[in-house]
Amino acid sequence: MTSTTALPKTMKSLLQASRKTTEVILVEAPIPTPTHPDDVLVRVHATAPCAGELLWAVNFPDSIPADKVMVPCQDLSGTVVTAPAASDFAPGDRVYCRIEAGRAGAARDYALARASELAKIPSSLNWIEAAATPLSALTAWQSLFVQGTLDAAGIKGDAAAREKNGKIRVLVTGAAGGVGSWVVQLAARSGAKAVVAVCGPGKEEAVRKLGATEIVDYTKTSIEEWVAADPAAREVDLVIEMVGGKTLSGCWAAVKEGGAMVTINTPPEYGKPEGMKKELSKALFFIVEPLGSNLAEIGDLIEAGYVRPTVDSVWEFADYAKAFERLESGHAKGKIIIKVSDEAAAA
Ligand SMILES: NC(=O)c1ccc[n+]([C@@H]2O[C@H](COP(=O)([O-])OP(=O)(O)OC[C@H]3O[C@@H](n4cnc5c(N)ncnc54)[C@H](OP(=O)(O)O)[C@@H]3O)[C@@H](O)[C@H]2O)c1
Repeated sequence: MTSTTALPKTMKSLLQASRKTTEVILVEAPIPTPTHPDDVLVRVHATAPCAGELLWAVNFPDSIPADKVMVPCQDLSGTVVTAPAASDFAPGDRVYCRIEAGRAGAARDYALARASELAKIPSSLNWIEAAATPLSALTAWQSLFVQGTLDAAGIKGDAAAREKNGKIRVLVTGAAGGVGSWVVQLAARSGAKAVVAVCGPGKEEAVRKLGATEIVDYTKTSIEEWVAADPAAREVDLVIEMVGGKTLSGCWAAVKEGGAMVTINTPPEYGKPEGMKKELSKALFFIVEPLGSNLAEIGDLIEAGYVRPTVDSVWEFADYAKAFERLESGHAKGKIIIKVSDEAAAA
């Protein structure tokens, strides 16, 4: 730990007005004090909201403790101010992370993250790009390589992993969004046989650049219609689904008998069409784990030039309401970033 005497007494902070509303307000608040042995105090430079996060307290009350200080935006890039002596971090380190959803977020000048959540920022990322990475990249990584059936070793060229991945056709919905843009890149880089990107109009070129091999514009063709045109060639072995509703139902048509479906918006069984007999080897919903160790692996891939974060737009702190509006439009092309410090503004 180092001294915090040079810190101001208060800071600017966003706050969800209450657990029951999606209204966000700007307040002056005290600097948070480390209370957990693994707490790292970080000077925040940039942060990023996550789709739907202002409804978590209502929709997932068990995951958001009643005493959570309702600071939104769980992703950050920043500089370490104080860190436990036994941790891998020291004052001045450039770090990024996802703060677990049950604790106060990072839309403020200073935030507390656990050492286990943090990783050092790859030198090729600025503060904005770094803040665009943690949640989306971690979710994509875990959905493909931890919950899903692709082998991450394929990214670094492991022959056995690439042979295995080379037999797996992957379909991803929301493919141009925050998480989807990482799923496309990681699946393609790992040597998947095909990466089918489901996205809206105007996104085709972007997802092709990320590595998509087939595109379904859901505003022109439903997933069911697309697969029905040539099931033998088009059915997929692994679905990563993040939209829910009709999109999730369509994915049941696209996945092969015995294939796998990983969802992060709605549990797979909620979208299984009535009467459908298809059995999958895996059909699961999961919540991302904010693991700094995974983020460090992703950082190595960024440094090697294999993958990059995608930034939709960057907003001044004072314009936070516009950033949330853009997010809630549901059609972001990558992550929406809010600048917190002047250093991020210079990035
Ligand atoms: N379980 C977890 O741990 C976890 C973690 C992260 C995120 N999530 C959830 O995953 C979802 C995606 O997150 P995100 O950050 O990637 O959101 P995002 O950046 O807002 O992206 C959402 C994407 O959904 C697409 N979309 C909207 N309507 C669609 C439709 N009818 N059919 C197909 N695609 C449609 C949009 O694509 P177009 O503009 O091309 O239409 C957009 O790119 C959110 O619900 C989020 O809460 C869950």
